[in-house]
Amino acid sequence: MNNTNSLIPKEFQIEPLTCDEYLVNGVIEKWKGETSEVYSVITTDGKPTLLGTIPDMETDSALNALEAAKNAFNRGQGLWPTMKVGERLKCMETFVKKMKQHREEIVKLLMWEICKNKSDSYKEFDRTVDYIMDTIEAYKNLDRKGAKFDQQGGVYAHIRRGPLGVVLCLGPYNYPLNETFCLLIPAVIMGNTTIFKPAKHGVLLIAPLLKAFQESFPPGVVNILFGRGRKIASPIMKTGFIDVLALIGHSSSAVSLQDQHPNKNRLRLVLGLEAKNPGIILPDADLDHTIKECISGTLSYNGQRCTALKVLYVHESIVDEFNRRFSNAVDQLKFGMPWDDSFLTPLPEPSKPGYIQELISDARAKGAKILNKRGGELSENYSFPAVMYPITEDMNLYHEEQFGPVIPIISYKEIDEPLDAMAASEYGQQVSLFGRDVTKLAPLVDTLANLVCRVNLNSACQRGPDVYPFTGRKNSAVSTLSVYDALRSFSIRTFLASKDTPYNKEILERLLNSDKSNFVSTEYLL
Ligand code: G3H
Repeated sequence: MNNTNSLIPKEFQIEPLTCDEYLVNGVIEKWKGETSEVYSVITTDGKPTLLGTIPDMETDSALNALEAAKNAFNRGQGLWPTMKVGERLKCMETFVKKMKQHREEIVKLLMWEICKNKSDSYKEFDRTVDYIMDTIEAYKNLDRKGAKFDQQGGVYAHIRRGPLGVVLCLGPYNYPLNETFCLLIPAVIMGNTTIFKPAKHGVLLIAPLLKAFQESFPPGVVNILFGRGRKIASPIMKTGFIDVLALIGHSSSAVSLQDQHPNKNRLRLVLGLEAKNPGIILPDADLDHTIKECISGTLSYNGQRCTALKVLYVHESIVDEFNRRFSNAVDQLKFGMPWDDSFLTPLPEPSKPGYIQELISDARAKGAKILNKRGGELSENYSFPAVMYPITEDMNLYHEEQFGPVIPIISYKEIDEPLDAMAASEYGQQVSLFGRDVTKLAPLVDTLANLVCRVNLNSACQRGPDVYPFTGRKNSAVSTLSVYDALRSFSIRTFLASKDTPYNKEILERLLNSDKSNFVSTEYLL
């Protein structure tokens, strides 16, 4: 679809943004080296739109950022990791206030850089702000639980959670703000220091926040770099000074970065990786409702969600009717520009339409058909969603996480067929189960709960609400993220212990009353 500037509503027209700054050690530095141009696949006057430039940073600067993060942590002795929790929370409150001021520009960049539609872009921003506010409250609650002394077996214990060290944060392009901040914010708030590099797409939208980070946190706590993984992330990992690799993205990047770390036992992992979440449709499922959920599950943001439904198993007794109605519903979906708030929007990775077409061709060559009239219609930045049936194990679409608009459907006779396929799969994030008969549902829920980490009953798979645990089995994740769980994932239990003797008791009392320790405190944060 072509857009000339004049066809784009004025408030969404964009001027190229030069991002020639980065944040290291509390200083916003000017980048004087090479830069990379950032384009949107949305065309203006027939060409991809130039959105701006970002620094293509070199290894030296990346290592300076590591040095800054190391110094700020100072092997646990830095200002930030030893600060009172309440003080760290104040810094985070300052940050979120400043962040809110950039809502409009960040939302506009989300629409242009990753082509997310308007309401989902606003949702991504607002959800991230809510996530930060909820994290602050969750940490207060966690801190209150630790504001006491236990006495067991003749030993007093004051148990809290402490930071882990230096965290390298890398987020994905599909939620460049939300998912990245769901790693960065809990890491920072728990007293770790961080180096953060935005994803390949959805980069410019971080630029407006450099100053907010700089003004809210002590030097070296948050360091922000721009450029390529091989020049930035790899050399940082090779030093062995990263304590936590926090990454949401592809396992190939996660594995290669882990491999570069010379000290594997030191490295902790917080990873959100691939998934191939199935929808299982039982014979008695309400088809109106199921089709609605399957449309949103498979095609919200064009299927570019780790939680998207990426294969549908439909019982053979209803597969023809399901296929007909589902295909019609897909063909009714509106493709357009993000600011039109269309459900389907361009694919931000220039190579994605071609990849989707390859999956379609491979499946067709092996016997599958495109069921919907518009399926696979190709334009310069889009491949219209293709509903493909019947999908078999020899097809790439059966195995690969398509992360885009193509929907494989498999019919089954016995419920063991989808269950065995899930058990054999490399992935184990979530499933959607559609049906009504509780005598059938009950044993299925029992099994599915052991194959994945969230069973969605008559509901599409999703991460939210963010207070619920988000994780996966097998190759889908390491560690758990939720507002509460992320605080645990980025920290470790650590405590003061003292034998219960009159001598120690008197010292402990004085230590507490002195208010001189930031760690030993029974103060209740409200
Ligand atoms: O890309 C994976 C995201 O965590 C999905 O989040 O289910 O809220 O879209 P969502």
